Amino acid sequence: MNDILKPIWLLDKDIHFLNHGSFGATPIAILNYQQSLRERIEQEPVHFLARELEGLLDEARSQLADFIKIDADDLAFLPNATAGVNTVLRSLNFEPDDEILITNHTYNACRNAVEFVAHRSKAKIVVASVPFPLDSPQQIVEAILEKVSPKTKLALLDHVTSPTALIFPIEALIRELTYRGVDTLVDGAHAPGFVPLDLHSLGATYYAANCHKWLCATKGAAFLYVRKDKQADIRPLTISHGANSPRSERSRFRLEFDWMGTVDPTPYLCVPETIRFMDSLLEGGWSALQACNRALALAARQILCETLGVAIPCPDEMIGSMASIPLGKVPLSWDVLQAKLLDEFKIEVPIVPWIDGSCFVRISAQLYNRLEQYQYLAEALKQIV
Ligand SMILES: Cc1ncc(COP(=O)(O)O)c(C=O)c1O
Repeated sequence: MNDILKPIWLLDKDIHFLNHGSFGATPIAILNYQQSLRERIEQEPVHFLARELEGLLDEARSQLADFIKIDADDLAFLPNATAGVNTVLRSLNFEPDDEILITNHTYNACRNAVEFVAHRSKAKIVVASVPFPLDSPQQIVEAILEKVSPKTKLALLDHVTSPTALIFPIEALIRELTYRGVDTLVDGAHAPGFVPLDLHSLGATYYAANCHKWLCATKGAAFLYVRKDKQADIRPLTISHGANSPRSERSRFRLEFDWMGTVDPTPYLCVPETIRFMDSLLEGGWSALQACNRALALAARQILCETLGVAIPCPDEMIGSMASIPLGKVPLSWDVLQAKLLDEFKIEVPIVPWIDGSCFVRISAQLYNRLEQYQYLAEALKQIV
């Protein structure tokens, strides 16, 4: 681990932790801040949850909205991106023969949610086949647009893909799909803190994302953006007091999403402090942090590809703080390989099975990582596969 930054995280120093991408890792300072909020709740739970919380949520949402450049009125806090994707899919009314467009890189949990709503409504799922390895982002645009038909009602698009760690050309995709009359639901699970976000300019219909991955917020912090004209149709997964609230000074969208029964609200309330804390770690703030992680991911990918004799699988412009490197068909199953790396080499890194029976190793790069860890991973993989 980078010695200067070691005291910032709780991470086990005996593990080479190369998987920030799955669940993030929260700085100790933020965990302490969360604990102080929890203590404040417990001093007078009714006062905090019934009287103070609404204003605190407004404040937290407004600071998140500034960071991702969107109107706070169009944001709802949710515990995770999966909930955001489900909320939209399960609110929409699909007709038999409507088409829902996804890709072969869609995250499994979200694909399951699409299958659930498609099955109940008899809508059709159309899967665009995006190649990987690939030479240019244009191949992604072409693969997706090729599958659009007059029946396409919604496209579920990843901003950053999970198995292949690609930054999709999301601006071009949203622009082209909107032009063709297709609504877009963006799964931006990795995007906040990974790429600079300007949600207003992106123009998606819906955008679900996590704060607990690359923003390094505490677990259970995520958001859903819903374009104003769609807010009346989008209902939370849990119907609660907001559904018949007589209040008129707040939108139904706000009233419903801000109270879905009693939960621990501290993950949401910690988001602004996390944004500020991470911004303070490097001179140059968030953009320096993203550039630093990206440079490390690119250098690590280079080492892995060279050591394993694999061609660089995609252009640098499609890489952020993660990279997937194809391992081909390996002599042991992906889960056995992943467990072997952890048990024998103390490396925590995901091995991702791919559709054609091959697999990838997906590396993450965060401030606590250093280049030698990827060199070590490359040697370990060379030895095993
Ligand atoms: C692309 C993508 N979508 C959705 C998710 C789900 O995130 P969560 O478990 O926080 O809902 C992930 C998690 O890794 C992801 O990579």
